[in-house]
Amino acid sequence: MNIHLAFTSENTRFEKIPTRIFDTSIDASITVAREIAGLIRAKAQKNEQCVLGLATGSTPTSVYGELVRLHQEEGLSFQNVVTFNLDEYYPMQPNALQSYVRFMQEYLFEQVDILPENVHIPDGTVPKEKVAEFCAAYEAKIEACGGLDLQVLGIGRTGHIGFNEPGSGQQSRTRLITLDHITITDAASDFFGEENVPRKAITMGVGTILAARKVILMAWGEGKAAIIREAVEGAVSDHVPATYLQDHPDATVVLDRASAAELTRVKTPWLLGEIPWNHLLIKKAVIWLAMKLETPILKLTNRDYMDHGMGDIITEFDSAYNINIRVFNELQRTITGWPGGKPDADDSTRPERANPPQKRCIIFSPHPDDDVISMGGTFIRLVDQGHEVHVAYQTSGNIAVFDDDVVRFVDFVNDFHKAFDLEKTVTSMMFDAVKRKVQEKQPGEVDAAEVQRIKGLIRRTEAKAGCRYVGIDDSRAHFLDLPFYETGKVKKKPLGAEDIRITVDLLNAIQPHQIYAAGDLSDPHGTHRVCLEAIFRAVEQLKQENTPWLKDCYIWLYRGAWQEWEIENVDMAVPLSPEELLRKRRAIFKHQSQKDRPLFPGHDSREFWQRAESRNSGTARLYDQLGLPEYEAIEAFKRYYF
Ligand code: F6R
Repeated sequence: MNIHLAFTSENTRFEKIPTRIFDTSIDASITVAREIAGLIRAKAQKNEQCVLGLATGSTPTSVYGELVRLHQEEGLSFQNVVTFNLDEYYPMQPNALQSYVRFMQEYLFEQVDILPENVHIPDGTVPKEKVAEFCAAYEAKIEACGGLDLQVLGIGRTGHIGFNEPGSGQQSRTRLITLDHITITDAASDFFGEENVPRKAITMGVGTILAARKVILMAWGEGKAAIIREAVEGAVSDHVPATYLQDHPDATVVLDRASAAELTRVKTPWLLGEIPWNHLLIKKAVIWLAMKLETPILKLTNRDYMDHGMGDIITEFDSAYNINIRVFNELQRTITGWPGGKPDADDSTRPERANPPQKRCIIFSPHPDDDVISMGGTFIRLVDQGHEVHVAYQTSGNIAVFDDDVVRFVDFVNDFHKAFDLEKTVTSMMFDAVKRKVQEKQPGEVDAAEVQRIKGLIRRTEAKAGCRYVGIDDSRAHFLDLPFYETGKVKKKPLGAEDIRITVDLLNAIQPHQIYAAGDLSDPHGTHRVCLEAIFRAVEQLKQENTPWLKDCYIWLYRGAWQEWEIENVDMAVPLSPEELLRKRRAIFKHQSQKDRPLFPGHDSREFWQRAESRNSGTARLYDQLGLPEYEAIEAFKRYYF
């Protein structure tokens, strides 16, 4: 009932599937898990089985985590639960790292009391000629259990549900399909390279999913925002299979704020009717209007506002001129060539304080190259302007190094020892052993411990070279090697007390006036998200402890290689000259293991320096279009208040 009301209300009139937006994916996951638990309990009371359709991938992991907690702490039993998983790669051995059988065991089944005979997952080992028979039997089993009570879904960037890629029919049933190229790219990191991703998968069909009595589709993060808009507001089409859910009588879309960002009610709510305007919304709306009309802010007219659903702002501020000036001034004040504050200047409208004139700064870099990729220009300026700049490399980044680079480096050490007649035997034995381990490694297998170590060292020397190039001494490069990261796999451990202790200790040792951190939440492996969490938790602890230096510390968030802050969220914009941009590029070049072709490129095939430059010049262009000064490039930061 609630959902129905939300669905028909004014601000959701573009939404064709009932959609709920939560502050965070954790809040959303807890709600979904409780809904599932409620269903399991209700069925148990009636002595009935509860038939669940389950998904894998990064989206449902917190839901499974909460279900496990409910089982362990609140006695939720899975004895009456029967499960059918959506899909499995084909071919796939059940014990392989990437298998969905293994995924489900690790995240849910082995931690609850479900009966093994009640678990069903498509079998990636069935011989090709038996696949069709297997699929028909899978469908028959679902039917024999009385059909799915609830199907849980994630969504791919292609709009796939299950592995029903674009082109899948509404009536399709469980079958073998070919994965879309985008899906293969997205899976590349799990398989240590695109070439190792299976080309096919067995998936329940769209028809199988739509036959479930209830469907919940979840999505988290900025990376899903565009496809969510299409799924929820677009026309039903086989180009985006998730749009088929619009025809389901009881489907709900559950989102966090980031994945909801492109929905009309979030992006341009003023187009839907009267809204309660606030400071940020006005800024967002004015920027949107100027961009849409390709007009500088100061040239927007009353008529422009009236014609675009923003007439009520005019009533409040009496003229376009007043609003324009206000937003323009605010944007202008974000621009500063003095990211560490301008000494002896009036700082009342500047992003940073003038005092102390020489600040201690820590740049937290989740991977060893994020410092220069994301804020290399600002890093250079801070050093040039005499601040004491430290970099804290949070993780070793060791999974992202190619195997042949390891052999090359060990070969160098071997030859180096030979050339100078040092401990020959030990290094040549090591060289042979490492070469053998690399050669014997199966695709998708985890590296041997010493290979992981060498990969970490390769990245460490690159980071140090980057620091030296920018102009800071090795002693200011701190390698934290946070333990949560050190699994040798894409799947990491949860953040632990040791990760926080290491971060707190460094902060206390340096007592910074400025902390720069990656506020980028959509890197494909979630490492940035966890690294940010580590900083927030460390700062929270220091706050609880009433740490004196913290009162004089600003936190600035930069965004990683994947995207930039929206202009309305920028609190500090640091312009870069063409020369500074070139220096930034050269600092990025020091990360040779990531050059030409990184091991984990994500969904953008350009090199990191190209992405960084196009993003920084893109921001400069946006400022220019809005009528602000024209710069070569701009790095953008958002202040985090704690
Ligand atoms: C997984 C599945 C897929 C995923 C989708 C999103 O069983 O069928 O449809 O739900 O690819 O994946 P994540 O959650 O990893 O973004």
